[in-house]
Amino acid sequence: MKPTQIRLHPAFALGKVDPRIFGGFLEHLGRAVYQGVYDPDSRHADEQGFRTDVLEVLRELRMTTMRYPGGNFASGYHWLDGVGPKDQRPTVLELAWQSIEPNTFGTDEYITLCRKMNWDPMITVNLGVGTPEEARNWVEYCNRPPGTHYADRRAANGHSEPFHVRLWCLGNEMDGQWQLGHVPAEEYALRAWQAAQMMKAVSPEIELVVCGSCGTSLPTYMEWDRIVLESLGDLADYISLHRYVGNPGTDTAEYLAVGASVDRQIEEMDAACRFVQALRRSRKRPWLCFDEWNVWYKNHESNGHGEAAPHLLEEVYNFEDALAVAGFLHSFLRHADVLRIANLAQVVNVIAPVLTRGDDLLVQSIFHPFKMFATRRDGVALKPVVEGPQYESRSSGPVACVDASAVLAPERLHLFATNRSLDTAAEIAVDLADAEIAAVERGELLVHADPKAANTFDTPNEVKPVDFREVRLINGHAQFELPPLSLAALTLGLK
Ligand code: AHR
Repeated sequence: MKPTQIRLHPAFALGKVDPRIFGGFLEHLGRAVYQGVYDPDSRHADEQGFRTDVLEVLRELRMTTMRYPGGNFASGYHWLDGVGPKDQRPTVLELAWQSIEPNTFGTDEYITLCRKMNWDPMITVNLGVGTPEEARNWVEYCNRPPGTHYADRRAANGHSEPFHVRLWCLGNEMDGQWQLGHVPAEEYALRAWQAAQMMKAVSPEIELVVCGSCGTSLPTYMEWDRIVLESLGDLADYISLHRYVGNPGTDTAEYLAVGASVDRQIEEMDAACRFVQALRRSRKRPWLCFDEWNVWYKNHESNGHGEAAPHLLEEVYNFEDALAVAGFLHSFLRHADVLRIANLAQVVNVIAPVLTRGDDLLVQSIFHPFKMFATRRDGVALKPVVEGPQYESRSSGPVACVDASAVLAPERLHLFATNRSLDTAAEIAVDLADAEIAAVERGELLVHADPKAANTFDTPNEVKPVDFREVRLINGHAQFELPPLSLAALTLGLK
């Protein structure tokens, strides 16, 4: 393969990387909450019932914003069921996932968990079968000082200090026919507008995420977004995007071209925002919030058959899935100018980097790229220019064999590169204008000969990164060889 040149220039700065693009998503779905983060019967449970082993590995991901309680679940959830003395909370039949919801984990437990984990709360209100007023009441419960009904209920439940929840999502995937309470765009926009007015009146400092198109293939794609953005106007601080990808066949090269289609999805939503901003002649534009993204295609078991904590969507991830996850993260960094929040869906057991089995725990392949990027996020994202071999993908036309992104911090450069070639190593040269690359501070390489290799409870270390420092520093430039099908994350010292 001909060499690949990655050219970077500090003047081509996209903007500071918003740490919130390294968020997660915790839904009342399957074993994500119960038997995932919360499991009072586990030998790993702390005095409040949280699973310390799960929390300990999740801490390594340095997640920021944690979206909750759904997802589809949110559209049928009545938050009052989940507060107050646990023995008085109702057990309910949950329709999004046909499961039993015991409500022993609710708003107060979620906030306690966020505080433990240093996560910023991000709550999705029920605009499916719930009312705008119910959403308004939830904001009061979370954010107002004692002295009014719902704030007093929070205080009575042991939390006199407000929770100060800043981010609120106005419903979930309301454009999808599967959503409880799904309605056409105009009707959703009206509900969301009513809710937004009241929520911001209760707590003016909150920021709102409106439901954007949840997939590019829906018939209402972009038209939904135009209507919603026009109707919500300046009440919309962010608009949501969702994306799940997979490789049901065996075409790994096509699968790994996914980053290009994520680029396009982000750019199309950005265009919708700018278009409506221009139509409205407004100074304000909504930013993008990719509040569900991941690989998901192998396990579609979504019916809980009336059980509590059923095994649902327990996807087992392999090595190529980890590279696909890196594809999303490259794309997010390349759009740091408009993308402000993103939430990996999800965090434990349900399409997640971590799986539990009884008291055991498994770290899945997709954990690693997330950690490799998330621990190198402090700085300014640069727009990389990649010159080198390309291949033809069916979905996105020609794509570079080497997918890349970069973050510039004071005195160091974080570089991420995926070699998407199945059989050929990539010789890579990196230069950063106006700076000398002088040292390799740390580096990791995620590589495996078999794209389908996966970690299992018997072989938990099959897919995991190794230290990688084989970088040649020549005249202030860095050169290294990237094996076929691999991801490198490098932190390079600058002079
Ligand atoms: O993350 C799983 C589900 O995927 C979410 O509940 C829903 O919003 C999406 O369709």
